[in-house]
Amino acid sequence: MKVIAIANQKGGVAKTTTTHNLGAALAAAGKKVLLVDLDSQASLTISVGLEPLEAERTIVDVLRKDGEPIRECIQRISDRLHIVSSIIDLAPMEMELLSRASREKILDRALKPVRGEYDYILIDCPPQLSILTINALSCADGVVIPVKTDYLAYRGLTQLQDSIQEIQELINPELRVLGVIATLYDTRVSDDREILALLKEEYNLLGVVKRLAVAKKGLYDGRAAVEQAPESQIAQEYMAIAKMLIDGKERREELYHE
Ligand SMILES: Nc1ncnc2c1ncn2[C@@H]1O[C@H](COP(=O)(O)OP(=O)(O)OP(=O)(O)O)[C@@H](O)[C@H]1O
Ligand SMILES: [Mg+2]
Repeated sequence: MKVIAIANQKGGVAKTTTTHNLGAALAAAGKKVLLVDLDSQASLTISVGLEPLEAERTIVDVLRKDGEPIRECIQRISDRLHIVSSIIDLAPMEMELLSRASREKILDRALKPVRGEYDYILIDCPPQLSILTINALSCADGVVIPVKTDYLAYRGLTQLQDSIQEIQELINPELRVLGVIATLYDTRVSDDREILALLKEEYNLLGVVKRLAVAKKGLYDGRAAVEQAPESQIAQEYMAIAKMLIDGKERREELYHE
């Protein structure tokens, strides 16, 4: 399980926070990790402490026709944590992608030369089932789905599952759904508790991440919760999920959210 897409077409469900924290947790555990920011909002790029407009080369250079080799577009965050950053220009780029041959395999082809150099490649998807998300799902071995514990986010999972199934049937039969991570969970809200119960019943629940201020604290200095508050529930949960990935397990024995 090397290439993992973090996907959900619903906005604001903690895809980017999950990608950053899992990446930092895997790197802290000694793994070499490449993050790919596939969202024109460039939230992941900003979260790791980079300025989107300052990057010499970004994901746009990787994806465009006759693009640059991906190796030239990778930036180093730390020894074991690297990133292909994003930029607002990725939005118009999507239109161009649509007119290309094998448009859903462009990222797959671009990643090939560096696949062997990383233990994990984590792709932060945009909040749409766009050609970019399809590219991520077409080259991923697994998909992790962060989902907010509210009713509409829960209902949105059906649409996502349909798209994933279609991609499995048409493009990438190797793609596996690893499971969902319940995010922004507030124990005090009864709706949150009800939705969490449904998620537990119906999906493989990889973790439960509480809504806590510490998730945002490190953003200004580019550090994930797992780096700046390793004792926090958020960090513990993401570290437990990272450990599961490393151990090749996909079932959590205990969840830390009570
Ligand atoms: N566990 C948490 N506790 C509190 N705030 C959180 C938590 N996880 C994420 N957030 C905050 O929630 C907001 C949305 O998170 P994030 O950007 O990771 O979601 P996203 O799914 O990537 O959004 P988008 O769909 O826009 O890409 C951000 O402001 C983030 O800092
Ligand atoms: Mg995001």
